[in-house]
Amino acid sequence: MSRVLLVSAGPGAPGLMTVRAAEAVRTAEALLYDALVCDEAVALAPERCIRIRTGKRSGKASMKQETINRLMLRLARRGLTVVRLKGGDASVFGRSGEERAFLEANGVAVEIVPGVTAASAAAAQFGFPLTHRGEARRLMLATARTRDGALADGGWREAADPETTVALYMAGASAAAVAERLMAEGRRPATPALAVENAGRPEARLVRTDLAGLPAAVAAAAFEGPVLLLVGEVAAQAKDQSPRTVPIPVGRLAGQGA
Ligand SMILES: C[S@@+](CC[C@H](N)C(=O)[O-])C[C@H]1O[C@@H](n2cnc3c(N)ncnc32)[C@H](O)[C@@H]1O
Repeated sequence: MSRVLLVSAGPGAPGLMTVRAAEAVRTAEALLYDALVCDEAVALAPERCIRIRTGKRSGKASMKQETINRLMLRLARRGLTVVRLKGGDASVFGRSGEERAFLEANGVAVEIVPGVTAASAAAAQFGFPLTHRGEARRLMLATARTRDGALADGGWREAADPETTVALYMAGASAAAVAERLMAEGRRPATPALAVENAGRPEARLVRTDLAGLPAAVAAAAFEGPVLLLVGEVAAQAKDQSPRTVPIPVGRLAGQGA
């Protein structure tokens, strides 16, 4: 039976890929990778591997989902080891459900390799927890927009709960609408809030603000990389400087020796 691996590359720093993810890329015969995947992860693929970039950033068009699905199927049916490499965790806003359903419906077995999502990377890098005893007992990973680009209708009451940490993906352009909606549902305007660009990477940027100040802070930052918004009491614990991490060569993680 043909097989496709839906592999999570983590937030864009090679050291935050899992060992299983690195192994999968090293054995790929066909690699379809998204825009947020770092070059070092793609470079793990063997020289003879077919590499297909499926996503572009900065408003440029990405390959259509239908095209990606058909490509994966065709390559798997040729008997190749197909790796579909995605940023963060493939199961968090990564369309892994759609891809898995399509492949399985066409007789292709799917393995999903989990990974570090942007919210976990941001929390680790800037020293704040996503949950905290007595302060944040719920974590909501959410996107503010629906498929057609409108602001989502549901879920705002839960997001306004003072003990909920809300991590908002794909929300940089919606900061004003999000803040307004959360405050309208009763979330305190002074609730600590963060915007984190390029979480997990050496060039990561942290902007600290509060819910009322979030739209202006995001606008002033003029982010160019991927941005995660985070609202909740735990954000007050964020440190301005991320600690220096000691680099670990990916080759060693992937079992290639130092
Ligand atoms: C299609 S979603 C993919 C999320 C990914 N699967 C994950 O688990 O992180 C893309 C959005 O994730 C967020 N994102 C992904 N990588 C990020 C990073 N390194 N830093 C900040 N936000 C990131 C941004 O909100 C971006 O618009």
